[in-house]
Amino acid sequence: MLTIATSKGRTLKHTLSLLAEAGIEPSEDLSKTRKLIVPSVCGNVNLVLIRATDVPTFVEYGAADIGITGKDTLAEHNSDNLYEPLDLNIGKCRLMTAIVTGRELPTGKLRVASKYVSLSEQYFAKKGQQVEVIKLYGSMELAPIVGLADCIVDLVDTGNTLKANGMEPLDLIMDISSRLVINKASMKMKHERIKGLIKQLKIAVDNRR
Ligand code: PRP
Repeated sequence: MLTIATSKGRTLKHTLSLLAEAGIEPSEDLSKTRKLIVPSVCGNVNLVLIRATDVPTFVEYGAADIGITGKDTLAEHNSDNLYEPLDLNIGKCRLMTAIVTGRELPTGKLRVASKYVSLSEQYFAKKGQQVEVIKLYGSMELAPIVGLADCIVDLVDTGNTLKANGMEPLDLIMDISSRLVINKASMKMKHERIKGLIKQLKIAVDNRR
């Protein structure tokens, strides 16, 4: 049995389409089910539905052999215990700093709102900029508007969320896409099976380029 951890985010449709090409189809509609473990039609794969931020943890501890999640989540989690063999080239967006449109960053220590505390700290440390990062779990765009932070660090796709809240993107921190991650022990114990799956997924990814 292979266990694959993924989440019900906006990339679910694309993830399922890639998995289908690799012969893995869930036995029920993942976007609708309240179940957390859904077997595949062929019965030899279990799909585990968890929060995107929990995917690296499940895979790292071997609760799942394989995970599919964003590079943002993986970089923030920052584990040496995961193989990351494949860029799935879906869920593409950018991790950026953003500010209220027309406003300039104040001099001195900045207050930054983000759910990416570690990535924000690393980014500003490299620039030699002192920051206090305020951890939020969502609706980051609100923080500068209500005076909680000077700027935010968040994902930008179309830019519509920023625009709708009177904000604009500032600097690119990193390009993001969904990645396949593998538990190191599983890679050894289920080598042939996992190697085959990576190969099939790579073909599916290449076919879409
Ligand atoms: C993400 C991100 C932004 C938005 C950006 O949130 O946090 O708010 O998408 O997309 P856009 O540039 O196309 O407007 P998401 O909707 O995934 O929800 P989340 O806050 O729960 O992560």
